[in-house]
Amino acid sequence: LTAALAAPATIKPGDVWPDNRGRHIQAHGGGILKVGDMFYWFGEDRSRDNERGLRYVACYSSTNLAQWTFRNQVLKLANPENFERGWVLERPKVFYNAKTKKFVMYMHIDGSRPGEGGGYQLARVGVAVCDTADGDYQYLKSFRPLGNESRDIGQFIDDDGAAYLISEDRPNGFHIYQLSDDYLNVAKDICLIRARLEGGAIVHYDGLYYCIGSALTGWDPNPNKYATAKSLAGPWSEFKGIAPPEANTYGAQSTMMLKISGTKTNCVIFMGDMWRPSTQWDSRYLWMPLEIGGGQLCLPAPRDWTLDIATGEAKIEQ
Ligand code: GAL
Repeated sequence: LTAALAAPATIKPGDVWPDNRGRHIQAHGGGILKVGDMFYWFGEDRSRDNERGLRYVACYSSTNLAQWTFRNQVLKLANPENFERGWVLERPKVFYNAKTKKFVMYMHIDGSRPGEGGGYQLARVGVAVCDTADGDYQYLKSFRPLGNESRDIGQFIDDDGAAYLISEDRPNGFHIYQLSDDYLNVAKDICLIRARLEGGAIVHYDGLYYCIGSALTGWDPNPNKYATAKSLAGPWSEFKGIAPPEANTYGAQSTMMLKISGTKTNCVIFMGDMWRPSTQWDSRYLWMPLEIGGGQLCLPAPRDWTLDIATGEAKIEQ
């Protein structure tokens, strides 16, 4: 049993990813929060049997990042602020605030107000809180960070524990916002990266920050790009491709980079969504260990792979 538990399980990019109940994981546009030895994966729950008027966030847990246990639909949100039908809740990300001992969820809230027409016009972030990672979150409010438009959001926790929200501000670029002490607000604009990108993800690796973003092509894949900087405030390098441009990020769009600090090595996982816009519940995930270091970052072609969560070693099957 111990050997079986220790044996790393296989991650299969692009496949159906069954949870402990045998149901495809519903955590699209998601993010990961680590609490002790437990990883929690939060994301858009687009199950076919969800109630039409509500928007859902699901939470799963795992100790090896390959086998996931469904925990709860942690948010079942009814239209919170008199938005038009067709409003959206996308890319939820959960932070843990050690001072207040609250779990704080950020999400992209969008749509329009009555009379404004359709589309993504609100461009706001929503905030919800909970006392436990996988409990029922209470929706608090929505706002525009420091007054700026905010569509795709990403989450970055630095090695010193500081929490940042990455946010796409269509007229201007990518913001890296520092959260307030209680995480319930955006406190400061650390950097505006003037690039037309979304799906923002950042990792701090070997003394350098790497930022990934995707081009603005909606649900369709595009060549995702990366830049580097010594400090979050920049200056940031030019953006370069994370894979050969013709690969179109192997059909995926970035949502997060996750660093695993093991006893032997550190592994950075690229987490991406392979959207299926007309059958969203069947959208797939592309997770692969990145080749990263010395200012270079490369997403290898997807293959089945295993991760030894203790040592940090990733093995790609040949
Ligand atoms: C993408 C974005 C998704 C979703 C989609 C809607 O660009 O990354 O989260 O908003 O557009 O078309």
